Amino acid sequence: MTKKFNRTLVTSALPYANGPVHIGHLAGVYIPADIYVRYLRLKGREVIHIGGSDEHGVPITIRAKKEGVTPQDIVDKYHAIIKKSFEDFGISFDIYSRTSSEIHRKTASGFFQELYNKGGFEEKTSEQYFDEEAQMFLADRYITGECPHCGNPDAYGDQCESCGTSLSPIDLKNPRSTISGSTPVMRETKHWYLPLDKHETWLRQWILEDHKEWKSNVYGQCKSWLDMGLQPRAVSRDLDWGVPVPLPDAKGKVLYVWFDAPIGYISNTIELLPDSWEKWWKSEDTKLVHFIGKDNIVFHCIVFPAILKAEGSFILPENVPANEFLNLEGDKISTSRNWAVWLHEYLEDFPGQQDVLRYVLTANAPETKDNDFTWKDFQARNNNELVAILGNFINRALVLTRKYFDSKIPQIHELTDYDKETLKEFVNVKEAVESYLDTFRFRDALKEAMNLARIGNKYLADTEPWKVVGTDMERVETIINISLQITANLAIVFEPFLPFSVKKIRRFINMDGLAWDQLGRIDLLPAGHQLNPSELLFAKIEDETIEKQIQKLPDRKKDEQAPEIKTTPQKANVAYGDFERLDLRTGKVLECIKVPKADKLLQFLIDDGMDKRTIISGIAAWYKPEDLVGKQVCFIANLEPLKLKGVESQGMLLSVEDSDGALSLIQPSKDVAPGSRIG
Ligand code: MF3
Ligand code: ZN
Repeated sequence: MTKKFNRTLVTSALPYANGPVHIGHLAGVYIPADIYVRYLRLKGREVIHIGGSDEHGVPITIRAKKEGVTPQDIVDKYHAIIKKSFEDFGISFDIYSRTSSEIHRKTASGFFQELYNKGGFEEKTSEQYFDEEAQMFLADRYITGECPHCGNPDAYGDQCESCGTSLSPIDLKNPRSTISGSTPVMRETKHWYLPLDKHETWLRQWILEDHKEWKSNVYGQCKSWLDMGLQPRAVSRDLDWGVPVPLPDAKGKVLYVWFDAPIGYISNTIELLPDSWEKWWKSEDTKLVHFIGKDNIVFHCIVFPAILKAEGSFILPENVPANEFLNLEGDKISTSRNWAVWLHEYLEDFPGQQDVLRYVLTANAPETKDNDFTWKDFQARNNNELVAILGNFINRALVLTRKYFDSKIPQIHELTDYDKETLKEFVNVKEAVESYLDTFRFRDALKEAMNLARIGNKYLADTEPWKVVGTDMERVETIINISLQITANLAIVFEPFLPFSVKKIRRFINMDGLAWDQLGRIDLLPAGHQLNPSELLFAKIEDETIEKQIQKLPDRKKDEQAPEIKTTPQKANVAYGDFERLDLRTGKVLECIKVPKADKLLQFLIDDGMDKRTIISGIAAWYKPEDLVGKQVCFIANLEPLKLKGVESQGMLLSVEDSDGALSLIQPSKDVAPGSRIG
């Protein structure tokens, strides 16, 4: 049975807001999704494209701890960067929101509540590692210890990065908490589980029988999961960052990020269309399509559908055209190793050349298997395809029109057999591109579009209008007219793929409202129509430019081998009130001398704003006393006095310790009055 759909709801995976986005994200998810929605819009279909940042999960909290900021700071920063990258590359979302929004918290929370009320969860108690010093349960990533397989002393609770084995925290020998450094203990904790095993029967039917048309990589992964047998999955975690579990006995528990993130698609639709969102999520004539990368398949094809089904009033995805991975110069793209081409960096080096990257990433998309991005291929596709075929043809058509017809479209006269043959070929392009786009074969669709430019190029080369200018002006008029009609067709067929260039072409030909259904026609531009001045669409990329990019990469590899800065584990949190009890102030050094018979200590006389006080500090190894006189310092003013070598120290100077153990005094970055408060 083929369903009749009246609108299409397209979602793109919500990227984690803990880093910028790179070419792998673009190639795997966002470009295909964007091509698809642009195509549907051009066809006049009812479609929305939902996106946003995924702002929960443990890695964000770890990153925040490392940088000494809050998780909200992290997601605020990266949400803005990611959003801007998508805008810069023309990824046309109808909304790009975020899962830390209030509307999302309400929606996800309500969803959980609804499922809970319907008996959609099982409650289970299990033992998990607990950090007694920090008073918290530890996510797998917060536990390190010795790998039982290779002996790596710093393996994580979920994986050993040395030997690649995936682990469970209880596998680790000598486990340590990365929060406090202490040895965690086992403690009981309760969580809510989605009983996937109970959903297995309908999922098998729905995927394996009713969706045989899904891409083979997607179908295959689902089949192997289903064949292994589904297990209940916890949908909550002991963590203080996320959507709180909306139950009375759930203090300190949040929804598991993979429970709340896909609900983000719904929240963001509600934010976009508060009054009509249900039409998009709850009517059988809406076609729901999730664009994702292959690491997200099980969540979108099995877990999220089970959640939607358990709720009962939502539609299920009609297709999940997941892509495989894009490698970079033969190596897996890695954020932590900085082995990536970041979108914001690309734009710095190739300003205004978004379409080149869009083109290369589509032509080389990892649709059926992992693929490799190389800078050489990037250069070759730009020079040999965009410049030599598409750009060259359009430029020649426009320049000839300017030269012979003052940029006005000439009349079409009688067609030759050769003209007719050319037109026949190009009429087929529409159907071919459509059938590829409808089945998510974007590489093939792009190839067909490019074929139209090839037809145009060949037509001009074969008919050689410049040779008949003196003898048969009517023939020249016909050739140029046909070439311009082909140009107008290119301005339709390339819109989903190269929106920036198409905008320019439309300006050149002075024709805006072209729709998909006009594709294949040769009456798009009327005779007498005036064209605008034009410029080259694409520029050749030289070897040096490419060399520079290639050079950048091995450098990055070296960087990553540099010793990692060892940070000491963060201490347990203190209440704000405790912090406020400390009196931190600035002072000015009046005198500074060595403490006799103590080679580490210096004795300071400090102007503290109200009075003078003596402070002893263990920094003699790093400063000459005379250099410090007149300098500003920071100190703890209300520390209990302490006698050192017979002298009473009335406070403590603040200093930082670098990785070699060297100390340096902390100073205000501007001149401030002694006694100014620090906080
Ligand atoms: N943040 C996830 C990732 O980058 C994707 C989440 S997709 C969503 O792998 F559906 F859950 F939002
Ligand atoms: Zn190991």
